[in-house]
Amino acid sequence: MSTIERWAHDFITTTSLEAKLSPPLPPSVFEATPTRQVLMQPGRPPELVARVGRKKGVRPGALKDVAKRADVLHAFLHHELQAAELFAWAILAFPETPEPFRRGLLGICRDELRHMRLYRAHLETLGHPFGSMPVNDWFWKRVPDEHATPTQFVARLGIGFEGGNLDHGKRFVGYFTDAGDLRAAAIQQQILDEEVAHAAFGLHWFKVFTGGVDFEAWRALLPAPLTPAMTRGSELNLEARRRAGYPQPFLDALTRWDDTHVPR
Ligand SMILES: [Fe+2]
Ligand SMILES: [Fe+2]
Repeated sequence: MSTIERWAHDFITTTSLEAKLSPPLPPSVFEATPTRQVLMQPGRPPELVARVGRKKGVRPGALKDVAKRADVLHAFLHHELQAAELFAWAILAFPETPEPFRRGLLGICRDELRHMRLYRAHLETLGHPFGSMPVNDWFWKRVPDEHATPTQFVARLGIGFEGGNLDHGKRFVGYFTDAGDLRAAAIQQQILDEEVAHAAFGLHWFKVFTGGVDFEAWRALLPAPLTPAMTRGSELNLEARRRAGYPQPFLDALTRWDDTHVPR
């Protein structure tokens, strides 16, 4: 019988674009005695060419241009793909964790797959299908490591990057609305609303694993050169972050943090 682990492995390693974007439904059972597997890189279909050099920042006014808007949405789809892969990765890397944790990872992985499909359909209507622009595996370079623990994983991805997504998401709902692309704005808003539960999942399990949600404990788990400032938007989406369950002292410390490494 096929297992969730087999499915996760196949999804991460496939080099077929169609299998990446529309994998089969996962089976319902975990392996009886799973062993730890730490994959250090994902399969990449030939259509997904790595970006050389840094992507330029976005000037909001420029998003009236379809190609510039598609460039942003293409990058966002690739973020969702990496998130889906990394949640599947964690199922394989942390077989010793409670089953509800691994079921939660699978549920979020499936949400991220849905988010990918929302962006994918819209990119097609804009005439720039996924795979038509270069991509950057930024999250893959910052989340997995051979000795990763479940606590590090939820610190980096759940509390860190998914929290940052709440900040960035809000900003881009505004940008897409101003650019007159109401479909892109609606997709961004839907994803933002659903990401609140993902950040909440990270916070919940961080508390289970460490006994609380302490800013300094969280910060210590970010791998150099990653800093708290790199995980958040220029302005925190405090409303969504509070809904996700970030404690106020954590939000205060994150707001104050700057990269001179001197907490104010
Ligand atoms: Fe997502
Ligand atoms: Fe997410």
